[in-house]
Amino acid sequence: MSIEEQFTFLEVSKAKEVAKLAAKIVANNIKKNKGIVLGLATGNTMVEFYKELVKYYKKGFISFSKVKTFNLDEYYPINSEDKSSFRSFMNKHLFDKVNIKEKNINFLNGDVKDFKKECERYENKIKKVGGIDLQILGIGVNGHVGFNEPGSSFTSITRRVKLSSSTKKANAREFKGKQVPKYALTMGIKTILSSDKIILLAIGDKKARAIKKTLEGKITKKVPASVLRKHKNVSIIIDCKAGK
Ligand code: GLP
Repeated sequence: MSIEEQFTFLEVSKAKEVAKLAAKIVANNIKKNKGIVLGLATGNTMVEFYKELVKYYKKGFISFSKVKTFNLDEYYPINSEDKSSFRSFMNKHLFDKVNIKEKNINFLNGDVKDFKKECERYENKIKKVGGIDLQILGIGVNGHVGFNEPGSSFTSITRRVKLSSSTKKANAREFKGKQVPKYALTMGIKTILSSDKIILLAIGDKKARAIKKTLEGKITKKVPASVLRKHKNVSIIIDCKAGK
């Protein structure tokens, strides 16, 4: 199978197979381009995917020694060491388990006063390394990508956004009784679309509506993920529950 061309849609039966297939594609891309720039996502969907990717590293098939990463988003405000931060999630599920260099890990800092400057820094850094080669995405129940909530402009770049109540509710489990931050810093839709290749993963019946709208409805700001249909190289991999 090739993800070299256009729009690929793959429905597999189980969530585990989504993770395996995505990890296989990403591992092959790392193998081909040792200094690849990866755009990474967080969330429950990504847990198994990172587990599978770590297996390729442990088997010696790939090395992260030259890989650069940019994560999509981070809560705001939050300290990176907070257990609920996306940075902690990434440390736990990927960074602490592979030989990636700290200097090659790029993250939005949710602990700065001047968030505008921080977002500008991030956007510039992505440009400076020549852009993202391969961006991994999940999808929110409301069709968001990164933290680009419905209504986000297709020309948006990295910025601070207010989280919708449905997103705060969906992500509350990470905060264990504490309040979910009101805001987040996120790559914009334009930033995401500037990546050379995009792979979106979705598992579970909670994502079925968002996937249907992404694939079949109008391309509209109301469903941020629908804009992916305008990108030249996208793969969408889902399980049968998300495809219902
Ligand atoms: C968060 C992230 C998104 C992610 C979404 C889905 O809101 N900002 O990037 O796609 O969660 O998460 P989950 O996989 O837990 O459903």
